[in-house]
Amino acid sequence: MIVTTAAKPTEQTMAKAKSLAEELSGQFQLRRGRTLSQLMTAGSDDQLIVVLDNEVRYYTGSTSEQPLYYHPSMAFVRVKRLLRGEHDPLIELSGCMPGDRVIDCTAGLAADSLVFSVAVGPEGSVTSLESEPVLHAVVREGLSSYKSGLPEVDEAMRRIKLERSNHTEYLASLPDDSVDIVYFDPMFEEAIEESSAIGPLRSLANHGRLSDSAVQEAVRVARKCVMLKEQRGSTEFERLGFTRCKTKKTSKITYGVIAVDRAT
Ligand SMILES: C[S@@+](CC[C@H](N)C(=O)[O-])C[C@H]1O[C@@H](n2cnc3c(N)ncnc32)[C@H](O)[C@@H]1O
Repeated sequence: MIVTTAAKPTEQTMAKAKSLAEELSGQFQLRRGRTLSQLMTAGSDDQLIVVLDNEVRYYTGSTSEQPLYYHPSMAFVRVKRLLRGEHDPLIELSGCMPGDRVIDCTAGLAADSLVFSVAVGPEGSVTSLESEPVLHAVVREGLSSYKSGLPEVDEAMRRIKLERSNHTEYLASLPDDSVDIVYFDPMFEEAIEESSAIGPLRSLANHGRLSDSAVQEAVRVARKCVMLKEQRGSTEFERLGFTRCKTKKTSKITYGVIAVDRAT
C-alpha cells in the first residue's frame, strides 16, 4: 500500500501521512508532481491512501473508482431528526437513553455509532469496534476532523471511541453488566443495491458471520439489550436467538433484540 498526500501538503498533513504509512505497514511516497494514477502504476501497488488536509481517501484498483472516505451519509439525516425530537427506530427499539453506554461491535462507517452518540449525549459513551485496519484508520481520521455544519453533530462524532479490535475478543475482556446496549450490524450476505454508502467498504470489510460466542459475550456484558440489524428475510435472528422487532414493512432491513433487562 502506498500512502501519499495532496500535491502541496502542510507539515501536519505530511506527518499524518507518514504515521498512517507506519500504522498500516504501507510505503510513504512524496507526490513530486505525480498524479495519483502515476503513483499507483509506478509502485505497482493497487492500494493507495491519500491524506488531504481534512480527509483521508483510500483507493483500490484504480483512481477512477470511487474512493473510501468518511462521511456521515444517512446518519446525518437520522441525527437531524433526533435533534428535532423525532424518533429513530434503532434508538427506540433499543430503549437507548441519554447517559447510556453503548458498544457498537461493527463500526463500518460509524453511521449507527453517530446516531447512538447523539442519543446518549455527553453523559453517555459509544465505543465502536472495527476489526479491519484500513477501515479503522479512515473512519477514525474522519470522526476526528469531519465538519458537518452542526456543532452538536461534530461533538457527537468526536466523542465516539473507535477501537481497532475483533468484537468477540473485546467483549470477552469486559466485566459482566458493564455497558447498557451492545449492537451488531454484520455485513449482509448479499449487498442491498441502493446502499451506496457501504459500497466502497465492501472490499475491505470483515465478512465473517456473527458467532454464537460473540452474542453470548454480548448478553453477559449488556444490562439492557443486545441488538442485531439484518436484512428483513434473514434467518440470522432465529439462528442467534434474537426476537424480530416490528419495523416498517417497506424497509429492506430490520432489527432483532435480546432483552437482558439487568438495568436497575
Ligand atoms: C455492515 S458494516 C457496519 C455498518 C455500520 N453499522 C454503519 O452504520 O456504518 C459491518 C462492519 O463491521 C466490521 N466487522 C465485521 N466483523 C467484525 C468483528 N468480528 N469485529 C469487529 N468488526 C467487525 C466490518 O469490517 C464492517 O466494517
